[in-house]
Amino acid sequence: MNKSLLTRCFFVLYLLTITCLATAAELPEISILATGGTIAGSGASATGSAYKAAVNPVDKVISAVPQLEQIARIRGEQICNISSQDMKPEYWLKLAARINQLFRLNLADGVVITHGTDTLEETAWFLNLTVAYDKPVVLTGSMRPGSALSADGAMNLYNAVAVAGAREARNKGVLVVMNDRIYSARGVRKCDTINPAAFDDRENGALGRVNYGKVSFNTRPDKKHTYQSLVKLPLFAGKLPEVPIIYGYAGIDPQMVETICQSNIRGIVYAGVGNGNPSEEVLNVLAKASAVGITVVRATRVPDGPVTLDAEVDDAKYGFIVSDSLTPQKARILLMLALHKDLDRSEIQRLYFEY
Ligand code: DGL
Repeated sequence: MNKSLLTRCFFVLYLLTITCLATAAELPEISILATGGTIAGSGASATGSAYKAAVNPVDKVISAVPQLEQIARIRGEQICNISSQDMKPEYWLKLAARINQLFRLNLADGVVITHGTDTLEETAWFLNLTVAYDKPVVLTGSMRPGSALSADGAMNLYNAVAVAGAREARNKGVLVVMNDRIYSARGVRKCDTINPAAFDDRENGALGRVNYGKVSFNTRPDKKHTYQSLVKLPLFAGKLPEVPIIYGYAGIDPQMVETICQSNIRGIVYAGVGNGNPSEEVLNVLAKASAVGITVVRATRVPDGPVTLDAEVDDAKYGFIVSDSLTPQKARILLMLALHKDLDRSEIQRLYFEY
């Protein structure tokens, strides 16, 4: 090959390299924080339902989707590797601290958290209240392990990274991406035990869609509720207050409720029937608890609709708080943080309407 042709080949190679490097440098820096779940799971058979969650480390979860490198500069970290029925506030605090640090030090343009689906909505809501930056934080998971036919994890992860790298995903609070839909942390819940279309937000609908990595937000963000952080880290000192949830049902034993109220708690969420209603006997137990300083939040076991003040229950008389449209498990998280901030009951009630 003559010298001038060789020179031209090298020059083209140089240009291609520079272009690739420049393109890569334009890609968003996305940190993937792995916590376990089915998206890190594996089963013996592609057609059998039996599998084990949280067996693959973050590097294996990421390397299973090489296409991620086309849309972002990826960095993976293992926060924990658990099935999310074992998720705990200590992991929430670890996640919130790490995300705030990544954004404070400008080490990431967005964060994706891979998570089991069983408690994904709780972690999303906790982070929505404690991450003090408006860069995208996106949680995702999968309903089938990667070893199954039509596994959903790879596309969920690809779509979650696409959303985390999208500028239009900023200042929308923590997001959940599952099955091509984008949901807000406040309204999303797991509505199906086994179907890949397991998540929904029945109150507000999806905030948007992400289809093969193409992001589109189709509604104005929920203006009634702020996306601002409720608690700035590192204000946390030690454990968060324990707040039990009691699920109401016909014939509930008031003594059982009383025993829980007499344990070392500062607040309680009662998932009542209908509009958050306790039985007459349980009402008396909760009224006594409220009178001795335990903060009582009335939530509901009913899937849709808010719990409203002073309907069948005289909340003003007993000093009760209503959860508005938060599910019992999310009402608990807001109460844990509100009690941590030592707010009074009127301030706590305001949080349920504003956050
Ligand atoms: N053990 C469940 C969990 O980790 C599996 C469900 C899932 O991740 O899809 O939440």
